[in-house]
Parts: sequence; C-alpha cells; structure tokens
Amino acid sequence: MSDGAFESVLPFARLRSGAGIPVRVRDVDIALFLIEGKVFAVENLCPHQHIPVLAEGELDGRILTCPMHGWSFDITTGRCTHASCRLRHFETRVEGGEVFIAVPEDERSWW
Ligand code: FES
Repeated sequence: MSDGAFESVLPFARLRSGAGIPVRVRDVDIALFLIEGKVFAVENLCPHQHIPVLAEGELDGRILTCPMHGWSFDITTGRCTHASCRLRHFETRVEGGEVFIAVPEDERSWW
C-alpha cells in the first residue's frame, strides 16, 4: 500500500536496460531504471554531495555507480554498497504501457 497517488511519468517503451531516465514528480527528482524487466525508481540525488546525477550513472546488473566520485548503490533496495546510507525509492507500476510512480503528497527532496 502506498501513501501517495500514482502519477504517470513516461511510456514504458522509453526505458532501456542499463540506462537511467530522470523524471520529476511533486518537486522530487527521480531516476528510473529498468532491471530484468522491472521498473525501479530512486531519488536522483547522490547522498555523497547531493548532486542530481544518479540517472546518468553506470548500471551493472542491479548496481549503479555514481558518475561523480564512484559511490555505488543497489538500485533494487536503495542501499549504498560501501557506506551506511540508502536512497529513497518509490513504488512503481506499469499499466497500459505507461510507467506510474507513487510519491507521497507531503514528500519533498530531503536535501
Ligand atoms: S556525488 Fe555521487 S559519489 Fe560523489
């Protein structure tokens, strides 16, 4: 169960394995990824220096590496692989060929 309403963000056909796509929902920058046919949505901000670059990171399987200084994250869980941090991630759904993301009404960027 989600706390937020789902919003349509883009056609599913635009997603490509290995490449992130940035979208914005309720003032939150989000990076979308397609991994093994499933859509994952995390906040686009790298927790290292709070730069909105994660959609431009390199994805190897489920591990994303930030293009700035190499921090890495498991996109399926949001966990940093070498530090005690976690990316916010958001519930996704695909219906009628569109990708939907749920961002709670009161959510804003943490940074
Ligand atoms: S800003 Fe991402 S690793 Fe530094």
